[in-house]
Amino acid sequence: MSAVDVKPVDSAEEKKEMPPKKLSSLFHLLSYLKPYKSRWMAAMAALLFTASLSLLMGQGVKLLIDSGFGEGSLALLNQAVLVLLALAVFMALGTFIRFYLVSWLGERVSADIRTAVFNHIVTLHPSYFETNRSGEITSRLTTDTTLLQTIIGSSFSLALRSSLTTVGALIMLFITNGKLMLIVVGCVPLVLLPILFYGKKVKRLSRASQDSIANVGSYAGEIIQNIKAVQSYTQEQQEKSVFGSHVEEAFGIAKSRVTQRAILMAAVILLVFTALSVMLWVGGSDVINGSMTAGDLAAFIFYALMVAMGVATVSEVFGDLQRAAGATERLIELLEVKSLITAPIISADANALPAELAFKQVSFNYPSRPDEPALKSFSLVLPEGQCVALVGPSGAGKSTVFELIQRFYDPQSGLVTLGNKDIRELSPQALRQQLAVVAQQPTLFTSDVATNIRYGRPNATDEEVVEAAKAAYAHEFISQLPNGYNSFLGEQGVRLSGGQKQRIAIARAILKDPRILMLDEATSALDTESEFKVQKALERLMENRTTLIIAHRLSTILHADTIAVLDHGQLVAQGSHEHLLKASALYAKLASYQFKEQSA
Ligand SMILES: Nc1ncnc2c1ncn2[C@@H]1O[C@H](COP(=O)(O)OP(=O)(O)O)[C@@H](O)[C@H]1O
Ligand SMILES: [Mg+2]
Repeated sequence: MSAVDVKPVDSAEEKKEMPPKKLSSLFHLLSYLKPYKSRWMAAMAALLFTASLSLLMGQGVKLLIDSGFGEGSLALLNQAVLVLLALAVFMALGTFIRFYLVSWLGERVSADIRTAVFNHIVTLHPSYFETNRSGEITSRLTTDTTLLQTIIGSSFSLALRSSLTTVGALIMLFITNGKLMLIVVGCVPLVLLPILFYGKKVKRLSRASQDSIANVGSYAGEIIQNIKAVQSYTQEQQEKSVFGSHVEEAFGIAKSRVTQRAILMAAVILLVFTALSVMLWVGGSDVINGSMTAGDLAAFIFYALMVAMGVATVSEVFGDLQRAAGATERLIELLEVKSLITAPIISADANALPAELAFKQVSFNYPSRPDEPALKSFSLVLPEGQCVALVGPSGAGKSTVFELIQRFYDPQSGLVTLGNKDIRELSPQALRQQLAVVAQQPTLFTSDVATNIRYGRPNATDEEVVEAAKAAYAHEFISQLPNGYNSFLGEQGVRLSGGQKQRIAIARAILKDPRILMLDEATSALDTESEFKVQKALERLMENRTTLIIAHRLSTILHADTIAVLDHGQLVAQGSHEHLLKASALYAKLASYQFKEQSA
């Protein structure tokens, strides 16, 4: 198993051309319905009940006309109306139960699937998200599951109910008048033909229209996000016209969809009413010459309309079911992706191992760049309690070293070890619990400051959070925020400077109190004062800990026990600052322009 054979999720373009999904993939949904057996059985019962009642309605109509009007008897009319009313009450009750239960099931199952998919996604190897666009994955979580919700919660029961009533109505038609029934049966394909023909066109156009609306949305989203760049380069006019053309394109597609739909509706209405007129003519002559009662004719028309509506519903809903099958298939596919980073069956106890890291002849390339190694035969030892500084030009592979230690990827050859044990023999969680990483661009979540710090140790008390913030030289600025530790960060919250963000990340690492610390130094983001404070905070954090630091500052480098120089994914030299100045031309060069200002 290698990191390369990640199966990419089909892209949006591919999806558009995908043939309609087989309905059989809907069977996967059954396992999600299983836990709610009593509910869906009750829903089925209610559905059968209402379907039978609506068939009975036709008999009620017949009774009303033949006994009430026909006989001219007020008492019989009253009776017939009462029967119809009772039917209506039962029908309402049954519909209430069916609708409630079926919608409940739709919501419940889509919630369950949403949770299952998310729970699965967060365990997947990070490279999965490099080969699959995150927008695509989140749209499965939202759009695809919502589609399933409407299917389970309405379309499916509509299809079932319509099939039941159609079959029932056909039987009733046959019983009422065999000759007329032949007219109905003959007309059904006539009505279906335009629905199938134009329906397909309409469906294709509505998908295209949805896609173009999505384009409009993402275009606007990007412009809003980068509004300062747009205004700074005074590109408003240009953006307006590009956006306008996207909108017009969407309108154009929508227009042809509307046209097709209008033709479809007109054709169906024309056909349905023509068929009805023919039926009325044939049936009417039968009533006049006495071979059929008026009630029978009324009941017949009632059932014929039921068949027409049932067939229309089923053919309309059939497309929905196909889309749902597609959604189910995509969700199942996502659920079946196996993480490439997994725990062994029997994992060693990471806590019992010495906090010593080593790279042994590690060669690695990122899955998206199979023929460009990011590390080549890389070996390095990080002894327990010591501090190793990594230096090297940009793109040398320093951050890649961090990624491999956290086991976001497995190397193609060689070993990464913790306390002389291959990290693949540990559970990834146990391994990562030994580590804390302060990244160059710290990750803060859109919640309050305390929650962000507590991400390092969720059960920490408020006092411990404040302690950690103090140790990270962050307490002072946090206290000055509008709501102190409860201030909200992120889009709608306060914006922090680079140095402040970094100190929150450091506080998070301090709170986690790991045995191994990994720091990606950021100098450019910091002004002199916060650089001094971040430096102080880091020094405190590094005390008595195994530390690997991607170093940009001379002070950090001098503080390290050993310095490793990386270039093009290889370790080119290692030793003390003085040694390297003489031994490594690359280090001397880096030192001359990277560290000069600071040493001056
Ligand atoms: N996720 C990734 N996918 C593909 N290539 C990557 C990825 N991350 C880094 N690289 C490539 O790997 C090489 C090493 O990158 P990196 O470890 O980030 O360098 P450094 O941190 O030393 O600047 C670079 O050529 C970079 O373009
Ligand atoms: Mg880097």
